Amino acid sequence: MKIKKIAVELQNNPHEYAVEIGHGLLEKSGEWARKCLSRPPKKIAVISNQKVFGLYGDAARDSLAGENFEVHVFLMKDGERYKNFRSLKQVLKFLGETKLTRTDAVVALGGGVVGDLAGFASAIFLRGISFLQIPTTLLAMIDSSVGGKTGVNAEFGKNLIGAFHQPRGVLIDVETLKTLPRRELTAGFCEAVKQAAIADRKLFNQTADFLENYSPNNFKSYFTGEKFISELEDFIHAQVSFKTEIVLQDERESTDRHDGKSRKILNFGHTLAHALEKATDYKHFKHGEAVGYGILFAAELSKSIKIFDDNELKLLDDVLQRVGKLPDTRKVSLEKVFEAFAFDKKNIGESLQWILLEGIGKPKIVEGTNISPTIIHQTLKKFLEK
Ligand code: NAD
Ligand code: GLY
Repeated sequence: MKIKKIAVELQNNPHEYAVEIGHGLLEKSGEWARKCLSRPPKKIAVISNQKVFGLYGDAARDSLAGENFEVHVFLMKDGERYKNFRSLKQVLKFLGETKLTRTDAVVALGGGVVGDLAGFASAIFLRGISFLQIPTTLLAMIDSSVGGKTGVNAEFGKNLIGAFHQPRGVLIDVETLKTLPRRELTAGFCEAVKQAAIADRKLFNQTADFLENYSPNNFKSYFTGEKFISELEDFIHAQVSFKTEIVLQDERESTDRHDGKSRKILNFGHTLAHALEKATDYKHFKHGEAVGYGILFAAELSKSIKIFDDNELKLLDDVLQRVGKLPDTRKVSLEKVFEAFAFDKKNIGESLQWILLEGIGKPKIVEGTNISPTIIHQTLKKFLEK
């Protein structure tokens, strides 16, 4: 079995790490953890939730224990609303009571919620201990597990408390996607289309073709075919390669950068996405689904200010039609969305920054003050009513 690898060689980080992609890899997580952690720890704390651990916990735990790690498991509650201080405190207490030392390690087994929270706990426990990511959702595989952004939500906004803390390795076993519910797949594919649209034609076409051949509605049925598994691995490899390329040259998302390769471009679609999530109390949309709407709106806005072509917009719309059904937006209050814009963490001074498109693969960061509020209002009103 061939494992596909992407090296993440960060400039100021003494620990380069790799993202490894394949199938049947969970059973080898012990060997992998030993390889990633140059100084093998005695204890490993696995942070997961009941659902994911019920599906994949035994395979990971047995393999880690097989390599003589002392394995301790903490299961957090499942859901975005638990990516908060309370869960963080519980995880930190668990790490303390388990008496993890600075040479021990944390393994995050789950989606972006588990990864972000376990990563943040690892960043601050004993001022930073090693952590490894085993992402089990598509979104976490192609986006959140790579690049070292960790954190929790606060009552004043999402992801506003956190730290950059790079993992020491990322293990992607694509077979875990077999059990992922359709809506979660759709959410992950929205993030994939986001990355493809700001990357280049090649990744855009690969993503479009993959979605044309393999509908998220029937995803589970494809896993019997070797060709599918190989193409799924290639697709995830291409997506992670792009994410890595951006992270490598702007690891900490410099506030001074405004060019088309700034890490900020990964926030394409997020201005509206965060506002939609907030305006609906985080109950109506999954994060990725909101990003799906967010990228289409950013493209519409780009067209409204005449920097993006109608044909390109149609291409993007066509690909988004393939990701699966998104929740209705017609009942979302326009006023609440505007209120929520004000809270967006990408606020710099008085101005929102929009990540727009000048073409597929050509993101452009535009200061909110440079776009007339009337245009934003009209474009958004039309968009939500569609
Ligand atoms: P999630 O972690 O909530 O997982 C979605 C659901 O799928 C959960 O119910 C989970 O238990 C379940 N699940 C996970 N793996 C499964 C599997 N293989 N089979 C069946 N069920 C499974 O959601 P997510 O979409 O993975 O992550 C969203 C989070 O990621 C958000 O909090 C977002 O802010 C964050 N995020 C972070 C970054 C970053 O760079 N750190 C980037 C993007 C998103
Ligand atoms: N998901 C955005 C980033 O990693 O920067």
